[in-house]
Amino acid sequence: MAIWRPSLDPHSLNRAAAIADAIATDVASGRLAVGDRLPPQRVLAWALGLSPNTVMRAYDDARSRGLVAGEVGRGTYVRPQALPRGGLTPLSRSHDGPVDLSRNLPFVGAAAQALAATLTELGREPGLADFLDRGEERVRAPQLAAAAAFIGRIGLAVLPSNITLANGGQQGVFSALMALSRPGDALVVEALTYQPVMAMALRLGLRLVPAAMDREGVLPDAFEAALRRSGARLAYLMPTLHTPTTATLGLERRREIAAIAERRQMTIIEDDVFGFLPTERPVPIAALAPSRTVFVTSVSKSMAPGLRVGYVAAPGPLLSAIEAAIAVSSWMPPPLMAEIARRWIVDGTGTRLNAAQQAHAARRQLMARRLLGNRPYSADPDGLHLWLPLPPEWQASSFTAAALEAGVRVNAGDIFAAGADKPSAVRLCLSYEVDDRRVEGGVAIIARLLAGGGRIVT
Ligand SMILES: Cc1ncc(COP(=O)(O)O)c(C=O)c1O
Repeated sequence: MAIWRPSLDPHSLNRAAAIADAIATDVASGRLAVGDRLPPQRVLAWALGLSPNTVMRAYDDARSRGLVAGEVGRGTYVRPQALPRGGLTPLSRSHDGPVDLSRNLPFVGAAAQALAATLTELGREPGLADFLDRGEERVRAPQLAAAAAFIGRIGLAVLPSNITLANGGQQGVFSALMALSRPGDALVVEALTYQPVMAMALRLGLRLVPAAMDREGVLPDAFEAALRRSGARLAYLMPTLHTPTTATLGLERRREIAAIAERRQMTIIEDDVFGFLPTERPVPIAALAPSRTVFVTSVSKSMAPGLRVGYVAAPGPLLSAIEAAIAVSSWMPPPLMAEIARRWIVDGTGTRLNAAQQAHAARRQLMARRLLGNRPYSADPDGLHLWLPLPPEWQASSFTAAALEAGVRVNAGDIFAAGADKPSAVRLCLSYEVDDRRVEGGVAIIARLLAGGGRIVT
């Protein structure tokens, strides 16, 4: 086997620290597996053209970070335990091509280290086989209890018996729509809505009825008028960190929406997948109208998007129908995935990952603010995206095309429009790209395009 060689940051002045960083990155990405032996210090020093002393300091550094074990003469090995708890390591998302500001996915950071530790812990579990069964109560009951605790953190007190597990928030929303509607029914949505929900409505034969919004989110009067006009008994709303506008509905409006739902005896599907990101937020609508709301959240935005675990909380009769819809399409999420999420909720890893996510998002938002200057746009300081209205000389689609030509991918606002009103704005997702410098370059291109009034200024 070829000897392991680190890819070193060429700008790094401290070569020993750069080698230790490379070890951390490669452990997190799996390029270095637990038990792998690092090259002898002299061999690596020779291969890198560095002094043995530098490599010795690098290995010492890696040892003090808990990444490797061993000593001179016996070899240095990658160790599974005591992986660093806080270090942020990059994903292998694309590092070339257009800068991708079109995907609203979180930064994953230290989740890889946490996963390594949790998998090691699971490997020692005597009841491991239970996670390969389908719906063992012994496995599921603690997972639902953890879900109730998780949801409780954002102000929604719910019993585990009122929760079910889904393959992510996406399946939660789709299953709720499937369970609670029939082809031809009307579905009230915010005038700008989550694009996949429009695709779901199309598949289920639902008529979308847009309700007007302002900067804070859906307008209660417009919401009620849309229900009255269409006869809809079902709505899908994103009151917290709305996509694409970033708006969070205040408590007063939530109360009004809850009162409307009670008065009209209708059901709201409340999509709260971004709900763990804001440092402060109002309680969910589900806490104000518990018998009228299906609450959907997931661990995607706060922990990791590939951990396909969602939680749906609903009143008993609705929950049974939703559970049936989940069962018909997938039975349930993989118990092992749900178990990883459970452990991360219970042992504090989830809170730590969410805090890293918030810090990362806040840093990227500050970077964007600096580059976009005084230009008006909407963003939440802990949010993953921003919503940028365009000056009159631009249309969203031509701006998106010009941006792509200049090397950056963004979403045209019109793709989120549920009705005829197409906003002249674009959505920029700041957390997906791994490299700060690429995001900086991408947002700088957007700023230059805007400053050029339709022409690219270099
Ligand atoms: C508004 C909104 N709802 C739901 C989802 C689905 O999330 P999950 O990964 O939990 O399925 C997303 C993910 O991108 C989203 O942005």
